[in-house]
Amino acid sequence: MRHIIGQLEQKRALARQGGGQKRIDAQHQRGKLTARERIEVLFDPDSFEEWDMFVEHRCNDFGMDKEQIPGDGVVTGFGTVNGRPVFVYSQDFTVFGGSLSEAHAEKICKVMDQAVKVGAPVVGINDSGGARIQEGVASLAGYAEVFQRNVDASGVIPQISVILGPCAGGAVYSPALTDFIFMVKDTAHMFVTGPDVLRTVTHETISHQDLGGAKVHTTMSGVADLAFENDVEALLYVRRLINFLPLSNRAEPPLRPTTDSLDRVEPSLNTLVPDNPNMPYDIKELILKVVDEGLFFEIKPDFAPNLVVGFGHFNGATTGIVANQPMVLAGCLDIDASVKGARFVRFCDAFNIPIVTFLDVPGFLPGVAQEHAGIIRHGAKLLFAYAEATVPKVTVITRKGYGGAYVVMGSKHLRADINYAWPSAEVAVMGAKGAVEILYRGDIQTEAELEARIAAYRDAFANPFGAARRGFIDDVIMPQSTRRRLCKALTMLRNKDVAAPHRKHANPPL
Ligand code: HXC
Repeated sequence: MRHIIGQLEQKRALARQGGGQKRIDAQHQRGKLTARERIEVLFDPDSFEEWDMFVEHRCNDFGMDKEQIPGDGVVTGFGTVNGRPVFVYSQDFTVFGGSLSEAHAEKICKVMDQAVKVGAPVVGINDSGGARIQEGVASLAGYAEVFQRNVDASGVIPQISVILGPCAGGAVYSPALTDFIFMVKDTAHMFVTGPDVLRTVTHETISHQDLGGAKVHTTMSGVADLAFENDVEALLYVRRLINFLPLSNRAEPPLRPTTDSLDRVEPSLNTLVPDNPNMPYDIKELILKVVDEGLFFEIKPDFAPNLVVGFGHFNGATTGIVANQPMVLAGCLDIDASVKGARFVRFCDAFNIPIVTFLDVPGFLPGVAQEHAGIIRHGAKLLFAYAEATVPKVTVITRKGYGGAYVVMGSKHLRADINYAWPSAEVAVMGAKGAVEILYRGDIQTEAELEARIAAYRDAFANPFGAARRGFIDDVIMPQSTRRRLCKALTMLRNKDVAAPHRKHANPPL
């Protein structure tokens, strides 16, 4: 017995050393934490329970039989984030470059399987040279097992990927299948084909960061959601995100105690929308003034900023917020915004999170580039997501609700539960000038006539009453009372239950 305990302590110490002090120092010199240090930041103190510390790889080729490090380059297990259970795997770059062997993959799969069984999120911390080269196809099979589980767990438990080092080749597809990707600037990168191969194949010269760094993926490709300065900041934000989320699709989102009055009025909102319909204003001001305590967790803030998405609370309950941003592209929906919004709406719907939409949209973005890149099929994704969503949906039209974009963004016609409009709302097929130019083409001789026609159109359509007369808007509300009205609506909708007809799955325009 004493002998076994001695062995146990020895093996534990060996596993904790990872690839040895030299490699740990190198990791620190790059500004990176080790796999275990990262887990300590992620979880509540002393809550982590490690599994499979003694797992070893089974490869005997290329002299690997002489190189065994218990744990095989990934630390796995479960712990708590603010007292709620969360599973984790954290790749250890100091052990064979964090590369994925058959045994390493089995460890990841074990925590994923258990997370689905008990209904708890999985956080995957990626820092890896990819497939373990010495293991060949066994490693590829390991990746495939992880991918399959990512897909099976999608919409069942929240999956969050944190990229804190290299993530290249087919390995990128595990994070890509998860719900959220956080990256660290400078030390993390993601690409399918790296700069060395590009140099020979396409004769393009580019650095790792310029090809697939955090900045690229949070501003241009939209692959990642948020970029951070260092490991600690990224992991603390993962904790914040988890606080908004339900543990699984079988659980309700957590209620956060609030002292913010449900009846709080915000008189400053009465003057938020400028009189001139072409003047922008910041929709984030509205969001921050109506959510509990002004706390808003924005997702993808630097990608397609013409659409703002993120989480806040109303009356303590997690709520997904989708809002056009008049400050960018006048709030038009383009391809990137449509895809960003669609994915967010689908996440909320999968995880019982109600959706509040603030609508001020002049339309889909015109342009040859948008048409040729497929705004039709990408815009349809957002429409599909809203129409498919059965969670409570409440929409507030602050100003423009024009054309197809009005219909798409949580309109009554796509089964929104409650639709409010501010007095400044205009629900119409298009703006006044465009409409008059089409209706009276060739008939208008003078500038004064044009102005008169525009004024007449505005009187008829640039208001919320046409839609309200038909019941497409449930009420015209004063901007200052928006928080109160939203809190009441969402509380009333808490037990909303919609039965969907049976089908294998829908076929959204992916
Ligand atoms: C085995 C690996 C490894 C790998 C790195 N190492 N990658 N061992 N399999 N894939 C080992 C190195 O031998 C080294 O061991 C240690 O990890 C650190 O690597 P370095 O190269 O010294 O570190 P660095 O200079 O920081 O470069 C990191 C790196 C580079 C950019 C990740 O190692 C690299 O390019 N590795 C190969 C990446 C790759 O092509 N992977 C396959 C991708 S395809 P020692 O003992 O010296 O410390 C793929 C397919 C997935 O993953 C398919 C899914 C379906």
